[in-house]
Amino acid sequence: MSTLHLDRYLLIQGVQQTFKTKKGPFVALKDIELTVKKGEFITLIGHSGCGKSTLLNLIAGLTMPTEGRLICAGREIAGPGPSRAVVFQNHSLLPWLTCFDNVYLGVERVFAESESKKQLQERTAEVMALVGLSHAQHKLPHEVSGGMKQRVGIARALAMEPQVLLLDEPFGALDALTRANLQDELMRIMAAKQSTAVMVTHDVDEAVLLSDRIVMMTNGPAAKIGEIVSVALDRPRDRVALANSVQYQEYRTEVIDFLYRKQGNPALKAA
Ligand SMILES: Nc1ncnc2c1ncn2[C@@H]1O[C@H](COP(=O)(O)OP(=O)(O)O)[C@@H](O)[C@H]1O
Ligand SMILES: [Mg+2]
Repeated sequence: MSTLHLDRYLLIQGVQQTFKTKKGPFVALKDIELTVKKGEFITLIGHSGCGKSTLLNLIAGLTMPTEGRLICAGREIAGPGPSRAVVFQNHSLLPWLTCFDNVYLGVERVFAESESKKQLQERTAEVMALVGLSHAQHKLPHEVSGGMKQRVGIARALAMEPQVLLLDEPFGALDALTRANLQDELMRIMAAKQSTAVMVTHDVDEAVLLSDRIVMMTNGPAAKIGEIVSVALDRPRDRVALANSVQYQEYRTEVIDFLYRKQGNPALKAA
């Protein structure tokens, strides 16, 4: 693969997304341009309803753009596929399968043609260990905590060895401590796997802590990419040390300034 290819791994070019509604066409996204390098961690941040999930779904191939195109690893994105695995906020696990079997299902889908059952089980066990779930892997989803269920969702996505990991507010429903633990684990896993990731969040601290670049979206309708902040904090990143870092606070301020001063609160505007 050429250097050019690695620097232009995920391309979003002239993307517009219009939805048909009862009141007529609704332009959710307009003129979206973004180039993501291989191995980069990108977060999409913006006010609720601006179009973050719409953009992530386009990258996932779950929906097709009204205009423009999306390209991943040199190929136009034409539908969903295991090369772009998604982790949603509400871990969509099958309740009658154990945590292990929920992950195994994804592994089987991707590798069953080329690997034996034993190899598939080993793959599954490896990724369960990676997310710290070996001890609970034979429990059913209702027997484990919310944080553990979310870990299973992450394990399932990682086990497919996606080219790009997509996450839509994956920690949104978790308490602050569980959330912090999972953010740290995600950073460790991403460093180990050198994966590319695009994650939707509305949490400023989460965006600064995890990102190489924070893509800040304007309010909808016809949301665009407003500004992009490159976060040049060294890795591995330690949340405790960063809390006292001037540089960290500056990034934080930059994002807050964009969201609340330049964009304002859309809920308050509507009131
Ligand atoms: N399938 C759809 N049909 C009509 N409107 C939609 C559809 N999906 C999303 N929207 C609208 O597009 C905008 C962006 O939605 P979404 O991407 O879910 O926002 P976010 O994830 O940033 O909160 C919202 O105004 C939402 O109501
Ligand atoms: Mg959303």
